[in-house]
Amino acid sequence: MLIKSAEFVVSNSDVAKCPKSSLPEYAFIGRSNVGKSSLINMLTGRRSLAKTSGKPGKTQLINHFLINKNWHLVDLPGYGYARVSKSSKKTFQKFITQYFSYREQLVSAFVLVDIRHKPQPIDLEFMNWLGENSIPFSIIFTKADKLKPKVIERHVDDYKKVMLEFWEEMPNYFVTSSSKSIGKDDVLAYIETLNDS
Ligand code: GTP
Ligand code: MG
Repeated sequence: MLIKSAEFVVSNSDVAKCPKSSLPEYAFIGRSNVGKSSLINMLTGRRSLAKTSGKPGKTQLINHFLINKNWHLVDLPGYGYARVSKSSKKTFQKFITQYFSYREQLVSAFVLVDIRHKPQPIDLEFMNWLGENSIPFSIIFTKADKLKPKVIERHVDDYKKVMLEFWEEMPNYFVTSSSKSIGKDDVLAYIETLNDS
């Protein structure tokens, strides 16, 4: 899919204030610093559409971006960032949970995980929660530029093994790198298929 336009629409912490349109949307979620905002920039080919940072905790709100005037990409705050205060952590958790529970326009979530790390309990728990709530999701492995292809293959296989302890099959997944534009066409083609279905 060709990205002809990508524009910021609105940021907020209240799912009730998200855009009212019925356009299909796709949300990126995962641990702080995993590369959610960078991935949005990579997919849209706009270097600073979503704000990124080397420090975790950069994205703090629900951010809607309108793509090709007919679908939304949603950048969300990360979970699992230890240095955020307890009260703001709770607020985050609340609006992230509400977003996923009530946002009818959400077609699918993308759960981002860093390809370098072993499966983390917080990610597995979050995916289980999505499953329990019948929210479709795919896994996006990020930062593939940091590992050699053979090691990527091994890490993906290890991830699959752990997933199969909880799931009947491995969810749909993508291997990506925002700095090297790896996986861009695959993720966009997948979104296009869902938009058309
Ligand atoms: P929060 O908004 O804090 O939850 O983080 P985020 O998940 O949006 O991460 P963000 O996109 O801000 O990226 C975090 C850091 O990882 C930045 O320093 C990025 O440059 C770096 N990064 C993101 N994607 C990649 C990638 O594919 N490869 C490499 N090498 N670095 C990446
Ligand atoms: Mg971010």
